[in-house]
Amino acid sequence: MKRYERFADEIAELIRDGVLAPGERVPSVRQASRQYGISPSTVFQAYYLLEDRGLIVAKARSGYYVREQARRVLHEPHMTPRRQETADVAVSELAFSVLDSLQDPETVPFGSAFPSPELFPLARLSRSMAKGLRGMAGSDVLKDMTAGDADLRRQIVLRYTLKGMPLPSEELVITSGAMEALNLGLQSVTSPGDLVAIESPAFYASLQILERLKLRAVEVPVHPRTGIDLDVLADSLARLPIKACWFMSHLQNPLGASLDDDSKRELYALIKRHRVPLIEDDAYAELHFGTTPPKPVKQFDDEGLVIHCGSFSKCLAPGYRVGWVAGGRFAEPISRLKLMTTISPSVPAQAAIADYLQHGGYDRHLRQLRHALETQQRQMLDAASRYFPDETRATHPAGGYFLWFEFPERVDSLRLFRQARKRGISVAPGPIFSATRGFRHCLRLSYGHPWNPRSEAAMATLGELIDTF
Ligand SMILES: Cc1ncc(COP(=O)(O)O)c(C=O)c1O
Repeated sequence: MKRYERFADEIAELIRDGVLAPGERVPSVRQASRQYGISPSTVFQAYYLLEDRGLIVAKARSGYYVREQARRVLHEPHMTPRRQETADVAVSELAFSVLDSLQDPETVPFGSAFPSPELFPLARLSRSMAKGLRGMAGSDVLKDMTAGDADLRRQIVLRYTLKGMPLPSEELVITSGAMEALNLGLQSVTSPGDLVAIESPAFYASLQILERLKLRAVEVPVHPRTGIDLDVLADSLARLPIKACWFMSHLQNPLGASLDDDSKRELYALIKRHRVPLIEDDAYAELHFGTTPPKPVKQFDDEGLVIHCGSFSKCLAPGYRVGWVAGGRFAEPISRLKLMTTISPSVPAQAAIADYLQHGGYDRHLRQLRHALETQQRQMLDAASRYFPDETRATHPAGGYFLWFEFPERVDSLRLFRQARKRGISVAPGPIFSATRGFRHCLRLSYGHPWNPRSEAAMATLGELIDTF
């Protein structure tokens, strides 16, 4: 990362944390240059970057100011109390109709789970695919099939190590996306009928996997900013025979909430005390807006209880279907389950990603992606503050590409979903994120696509539709 980018990130963090408030002057070029020991041209470059990202504006002969972000700041959503102790899960039909609503390329994809392909280095990746294949000995195609591409495994282990989390490579299994990693992880530690602690609201595919494996959900409320309620979890673990936990400690889907390090330590202590494995879904690990990459609960795992699942789908190569699981003490059963089901993700796709990680400029791409997403988040929040009713509440996550909106109780997001669909807009209604069909007045919207006049018009239409409830 260049010096000016680092400095820009530091200022962006001060803005995000509210240390520099909207309308406030950012340090003058001279001041910043002296204070941070950098040249005035580095400060200028950083301020141009922050201007591009829409975080500051220049005022003639006066300097740079934090942009007045939205006409009004939308308040944080409430934390929803638990509805019932345990539940059978049945959300598939609803989730499939949301996925179906995204088939038409003309649809405004606010309901999508993937960012825009425009944000990914697909041309560079296809060169890596060709190169990876050219360099591959015929025997490698079969040799690497079960364990996974050797170079890719090395690159992933290296990234764990650079984060300060050395990982024995025997723990690592390459999978078809995080989805397979999560499926295998959960299946290897549960049997039909078991209780699994999940978040409320939760990523809908986790509910579908519970449904498929005939597991019962124990929903634990998630605070929209600070993450899972550890007191409720402690109580549930003490009273119920929970066989596994499935949580996202960072940029939780759909809320964007993240646990801080103390809470992650406490969560680990809890599962260790009860000897309950944690399936940690870290699909959004690379999409943080701040400068310091957060570490997962896995960092504390001294007993191999955490099954840590990652993916390249959201940050580099959607469609390549390459992810991984660091399975701790469950690595062996996970590996065997994989051999009994898919055997391996495509070997060429793995080789392409391995080559890209070594030579493609992955970290530069990630910085650009994070900046694009941060800008798009501001644009969507801005539009929501203009078009959505006064009582609307919204999350302001420090990464990822989802916003969670909470409307007054009278707003029925399932009806809204159907009405929006007729107007060419896809949205993700609250109940698909709940085993008990809660969150009926909530909506998840994705800002993963570059903002354009159609996005603006779609927000205005949604605002009109919401006003009719
Ligand atoms: C929270 C979460 N976990 C896992 C996945 C699945 O990731 P992959 O595409 O790598 O299978 C998704 C994709 O939507 C997700 O949002």
